[in-house]
Amino acid sequence: MPLQPKPTIKPATGKLGILMPGMGAVATTFIAGVYAVRQGLGKPIGSLCEMGTIRLGARTDNNVPTIREYVPLAELDDIVFGGWDLFNENCYEAAIEAGVLEKELLNNLKEPLSAIKPMKAVFDQSYVKRLRGEHVKTGTSKMDLAEQLMEDMKTFQKENGCDRLVVVWCASTEVYRELTDVHSTLAKFEEGLRTSDDEIPPSQIYAYAACKLGIPFNNGAPNLSVDVPAILELARETKTPISGKDFKTGQTLMKTILAPGFKSRLLGISGWFSTNILGNRDGEVLDDPGSFKSKEVSKLSVLDTILQPEKYPDLYKDLYHKVRINYYPPRGDNKEGWDNIDIFGWLGYEMQIKVDFLCRDSILAAPLVLDLALFSDFAKRAGMYGIQEWLSFYYKSPMTPGGLYPEHDLFIQLAKLKNTLRYTIGDELITHLGAEYYE
Ligand SMILES: NC(=O)c1ccc[n+]([C@@H]2O[C@H](COP(=O)([O-])OP(=O)(O)OC[C@H]3O[C@@H](n4cnc5c(N)ncnc54)[C@H](O)[C@@H]3O)[C@@H](O)[C@H]2O)c1
Repeated sequence: MPLQPKPTIKPATGKLGILMPGMGAVATTFIAGVYAVRQGLGKPIGSLCEMGTIRLGARTDNNVPTIREYVPLAELDDIVFGGWDLFNENCYEAAIEAGVLEKELLNNLKEPLSAIKPMKAVFDQSYVKRLRGEHVKTGTSKMDLAEQLMEDMKTFQKENGCDRLVVVWCASTEVYRELTDVHSTLAKFEEGLRTSDDEIPPSQIYAYAACKLGIPFNNGAPNLSVDVPAILELARETKTPISGKDFKTGQTLMKTILAPGFKSRLLGISGWFSTNILGNRDGEVLDDPGSFKSKEVSKLSVLDTILQPEKYPDLYKDLYHKVRINYYPPRGDNKEGWDNIDIFGWLGYEMQIKVDFLCRDSILAAPLVLDLALFSDFAKRAGMYGIQEWLSFYYKSPMTPGGLYPEHDLFIQLAKLKNTLRYTIGDELITHLGAEYYE
């Protein structure tokens, strides 16, 4: 039985422009990856949109289409890339500098990558202390800068013949800031833009510009950007899908895989010490205490929500959780994330688990950029707007409406994502009850 009448979902025809503030390691690995896949030089591993399937109906129905067959998503061949950066390097140069993908692969893609040049950034060094750049817009106020960004978006869309645009924030992590009065309503925020209020960081100027034009905005970094009441108000007004925060890759991905497992078996945890060494520009930016604080808040929240210490005091009340990030240049983008987990079982007997994840940050993040872009474009065409909680699957610190705790368990997040797709199409949700097999 359909849960709702089949909605009208606009088809994914025409070109989709994916715009990224920040054209560093993640963005260039994503863009080069899509070109590589288009040319048959690699596979889009890690992307649910490209490789995932979805079960429909009973297990006995054997009806498991790919997600791409099930919902209308933009084709990889129909994507056009653009963005902003404070470094005026084209995408080929930036990818070489990032050092994630092999030079041989990048040389095969040199022509399309060199043609992608960043637009001038909206940047304020007080929000990212370790960076300094020349390729930056100037304006009479923050509202003026927002208007310049809107002009960029419109011009990009026109020049590239795009049917639709989406934005994915792939820029550096800004310093930690709490919400203030200027963020509380759209009217106050717009006034703050006009008076260039100090509490409005560049990421919120991009978020405002995109949402004002109804362009979906996804935030891959832990700074607030769209996770602000004023922007949420705007997103509702302009019917814009928004999602965030902080791509769930590396160590936090492991945490949200492991912790629900321990909790399911009611194993206690007394300590979880996580440390990272990484040597890319992201690591350098996070070496600044202000930017690290944004990341730390995002990383720490995960365990508390999964483990619910208030409901399981015997198991998790005294959990000591520590996260460290160390900038260590020799490793480049190839991060090493160590976890020491002190657990206990029957009668409180202690055990230890050590995880040493030798990961590649941008390789893990690139498919997330693709999925967020394609799914948020789908959301827009399906008439969904405001916080897209079904995209929590991709984030360390998922956005929720005020007062509602986020769901961090990766498998609940995946079930939620797939059920949202079924719901949007008007198919029955899968509850895993399975009573029908025994009737
Ligand atoms: N790679 C991962 O696994 C991962 C996971 C979670 C979050 N992130 C976040 O994704 C973001 C990108 O990571 P990365 O490794 O590509 O970093 P990067 O340093 O290689 O690239 C970031 C780029 O953003 C640019 N930038 C900074 N402020 C800007 C602004 N206001 N406007 C336009 N450009 C701006 C920088 O010049 C830089 O080129 C970071 O915030 C990082 O914390 C990455």
